[in-house]
Amino acid sequence: MTAGEVSPREESRLETNDVQTLISEIAIRERGKELAQEIGKDYDGQPLTIVGVLTGSLVFLADLTRQLSIPHRIGVLQASSYRGATTVPGSLHVSLDLAPDLEGRHVLLLDDILDTGQTLSTLVEEVKRLGPLSVRTVVLLRKLGRQAVPLEPDYCGFEIPDVFVVGYGLDYNDEFRHLPFLAGLDPEDIARHCRR
Ligand code: XMP
Repeated sequence: MTAGEVSPREESRLETNDVQTLISEIAIRERGKELAQEIGKDYDGQPLTIVGVLTGSLVFLADLTRQLSIPHRIGVLQASSYRGATTVPGSLHVSLDLAPDLEGRHVLLLDDILDTGQTLSTLVEEVKRLGPLSVRTVVLLRKLGRQAVPLEPDYCGFEIPDVFVVGYGLDYNDEFRHLPFLAGLDPEDIARHCRR
């Protein structure tokens, strides 16, 4: 290894030291149970498909689907707006190639975080074109003071302040998704990380 390179050991230290817990693993699990109960009651006896938005919602989808006691299908679609080492959203790229057949199904569109609202409102319109019986939304997080597009999520896990969040599926430059809790990334740490 040459001077200036970051060793794998230093990389992992960076991951755990530079984040501050925002929402604990236990709090996520408890809130997940409540959401599952609410959703289970609302869709009882209905043909439900939960469609997660790749990649950030994967962990939330995996947990919620197992906490839900009613029969349902799951699927995914792709949307990406944050690319590379930046926290500034780029243009939205949507792909429905992986989406399951939604005709005759009630769709619950599941995303990790509602920020400006652009992603979810675009996806709702796209999914409607696939012929579902209805489309509703569930988000794990909603960032307060950021929304630019009017959309009221039907189910929301937590409202959070305007910080960049990682963990529990959410990433910074494809890192941190594996953390079992939600954490805020300090902008100074982001800048330092970019310089490496
Ligand atoms: P919009 O602005 O369209 O953004 O509501 C929603 C999408 O942007 C990503 N996003 C984040 N990802 N930490 C992340 O890891 C964040 O704090 C954050 N804020 C927005 C996310 O992909 C979400 O689906």
